[in-house]
Amino acid sequence: MDLGLTGAATAVTGGSKGMGRAVAEVLAAEGARVAVMARGREALDETVDALRAAGSPDAVGLGVDMRDPASIAAAFAEIGDRWGSLNVLVHTIGPGAGRFEQLDDADWEEAFALGTMSAVRAVRAALPLLRAASWARVAMFSAHSIQRQSPILVAYTASKAALTSVAKNLAKSLAPDGILVNAVCPGSIVTASFTENLKDVFATEGLDAGDPYDVMRWIDQTFHQPADLGRAGLPDEVASLTAYLVSQRNGYVTGACVNVDGGSDFV
Ligand SMILES: NC(=O)c1ccc[n+]([C@@H]2O[C@H](COP(=O)([O-])OP(=O)(O)OC[C@H]3O[C@@H](n4cnc5c(N)ncnc54)[C@H](OP(=O)(O)O)[C@@H]3O)[C@@H](O)[C@H]2O)c1
Repeated sequence: MDLGLTGAATAVTGGSKGMGRAVAEVLAAEGARVAVMARGREALDETVDALRAAGSPDAVGLGVDMRDPASIAAAFAEIGDRWGSLNVLVHTIGPGAGRFEQLDDADWEEAFALGTMSAVRAVRAALPLLRAASWARVAMFSAHSIQRQSPILVAYTASKAALTSVAKNLAKSLAPDGILVNAVCPGSIVTASFTENLKDVFATEGLDAGDPYDVMRWIDQTFHQPADLGRAGLPDEVASLTAYLVSQRNGYVTGACVNVDGGSDFV
């Protein structure tokens, strides 16, 4: 299936690791020009090398702190100087976990800065470029936890619920411009950061934090939140769906919150 992404100008926030990196790789393999944004230079440079090898000779890594409005504006200004317009924005930034009684005001503000406001600021900065393109799509990474609450994700989930509301609202306001906007709602996905954060906890229970079946076993035992497929997901599985949503091939999906969760809705 031709997604119509060849030559498209695309930007992926959080594109140097995890699901953002997987999305960037799919876009590059489809022949898109890809700008990845993150803080760490080393991971950005390594990602750009991989994207160029995958089929995106114009790939670029932009150092951005998505908590900083000026940094976000500067990154999109650079894309404007480079490409003049933007077909695709994929925003994958999200905050950390925490239980209600562990979080003070600063933690809540950080959660909303990363979970909601970084998307608002990215779309605000990208909008003139998206409007300047002949076609445009936006995808924002929400989370399945907005539909199935977890006590360890209280501020995280609140910020993602707000983000999803913004995505749905933008889908309405940008429909007359032909700009399609969707939220992607991953379930439990085995990324390197996920594995790193939980490897000690898993080790005490004789489980492997990098194994999708062990991850789902632990989630089921700990939170009683299994998935029908019996395993956690992989970054590529989220990236394929995202690439479709932001492609020209997607002509009619907008304002949706699409689950990629191995079947968790009714369990
Ligand atoms: N993994 C899951 O199970 C899961 C489930 C549901 C939803 N999600 C959501 O999916 C998204 C991606 O998750 P992931 O696990 O793939 O992430 P990840 O592997 O931790 O990667 C995060 C990316 O964001 C960048 N980043 C982090 N803080 C940043 C900041 N302040 N400014 C700029 N860049 C920043 C990181 O690079 P630097 O650190 O170098 O900046 C990295 O490129 C997140 O929104 C997450 O909430 C994840």
